[in-house]
Amino acid sequence: MRKLLDPRSILKLSYFYTTYQYLVGGIRARRLFIENDARINAGEKVLDIGCGPGDILRFLPEVNYTGCDINPKYIKTAREHYPQYDFHATSIEKFKLKDPQTFDVVITTGVIHHLNDNQVKTLFNLAKNALKPEGRLVTFDGCYIANQNPISKKFLDMDRGNFIRNEKEYVFLAKQYFSDVKTKIDETYFHIPYTSLIMECKNNS
Ligand SMILES: C[S@@+](CC[C@H](N)C(=O)[O-])C[C@H]1O[C@@H](n2cnc3c(N)ncnc32)[C@H](O)[C@@H]1O
Repeated sequence: MRKLLDPRSILKLSYFYTTYQYLVGGIRARRLFIENDARINAGEKVLDIGCGPGDILRFLPEVNYTGCDINPKYIKTAREHYPQYDFHATSIEKFKLKDPQTFDVVITTGVIHHLNDNQVKTLFNLAKNALKPEGRLVTFDGCYIANQNPISKKFLDMDRGNFIRNEKEYVFLAKQYFSDVKTKIDETYFHIPYTSLIMECKNNS
């Protein structure tokens, strides 16, 4: 029998992805993530891993920005909207850093829960190599918690990402690359009930 097309695959198209994010509050969530958690200053050098169509850029100050994403359609949209920035249509596995240890901040929003453990390790390794010794990686992903609102859990279960983890599992992976991992659970950033984990990862020298 022919396999039915997953209706969520329409989100691989930039217009539908961004419209969906507006509806569920994902755009608001990214604004709050940038304001409260990533706290990026003008002039900083920023790497955005799995940048999608570049929706987060509307909330960043004037920065030296590089984005990469495996989906060429998202990168095409990002380049159209933000021709001044450096975008790479490539996977984290294939992305070659031209300028290691020069980035102030690496962000990755809504990406880790799409990746298996080996891919997450590749992402953390990439972030670690990109960052200056005092730099930081800030991540944002859906997260399972104890006694979760069942609607929040349902949204996580339905997510396109097949690797939604609990806090302990995310931190376990991050700690293999960063000595200092601070976490925050948020349940207010989206319009829908949705639980997110924010990690700020640094290396204490
Ligand atoms: C939920 S979207 C988040 C996009 C964007 N960061 C945002 O906040 O809107 C997850 C992104 O991860 C990207 N992605 C998934 N696997 C990847 C990989 N192996 N390498 C690079 N990007 C990947 C997808 O193409 C998608 O753009």
